Amino acid sequence: MPRKLVVANWKMHGNLASNQQLLEAYIQKLTPLKNTDVVVCVPYPYLAQAQSILHNTTIAWGAQNLSKDPVGAFTGEVSASMLKDFGATYVIIGHSERATAYCESDENIATKFMQAKSHGLTPILCVGETLIEREAGVMEMVVAKQIDTVIGMYGADVFANTVVSYEPIWAIGSGLAASAAQAQSMHEFIRGRIASADKEAAVSLKILYGGSVNPQNAVQLFVMPDIDGGLIGKCSLSASEFEGICRAAT
Ligand code: 13P
Repeated sequence: MPRKLVVANWKMHGNLASNQQLLEAYIQKLTPLKNTDVVVCVPYPYLAQAQSILHNTTIAWGAQNLSKDPVGAFTGEVSASMLKDFGATYVIIGHSERATAYCESDENIATKFMQAKSHGLTPILCVGETLIEREAGVMEMVVAKQIDTVIGMYGADVFANTVVSYEPIWAIGSGLAASAAQAQSMHEFIRGRIASADKEAAVSLKILYGGSVNPQNAVQLFVMPDIDGGLIGKCSLSASEFEGICRAAT
């Protein structure tokens, strides 16, 4: 059975003292964990702290965004190589909270995906539809466009050994997760879309589900054949809830 992947997305939460406590609790509860890889994506200023606490553990760390450019006069931006300087191995790309608030286009997001990949970081590409789009029955069209933008710009083989996270916008932070059947159906669609362009890439790709995952609903979701793990917001801020979700993956 392929290994599961559970990623904590702390969003804009934490401080030096609370992060230290949380990371130490992660280490105590989650290392080692059978058949499951654990990653924590922290706000930029805490990458050095994550590196100093997590190095020599089985927990990897990463960031929640990166610049689409490699270097230059881009005030406030953070490049892929800067993330690598702090030992980051993963980076979340195109999270809907950013895409909406900062008007990130699918093309911008695709460029960031490639920027991460070409610097040896594993991109976690977020895709998903709004409630209106789901109710209108166009959710697969919306997600297909997000995936196809990457394929159109860089080819389907760039998805090899990367991560896509299906995060229906209506499920994020709402307490209302997608049902296991809804998530499985979209995950199967995503894998199929990539497989039709590159079979091998689709096999090595991990597809996570994100949106109100908690220790209670995690098992039903993770048991689905195309759900390779989860991207966890709120529940990753509690070591015991995050542990419950990670154990559901094992
Ligand atoms: P919640 O788990 O808080 O719904 O957040 C999901 C998410 O946005 C992960 O990136």
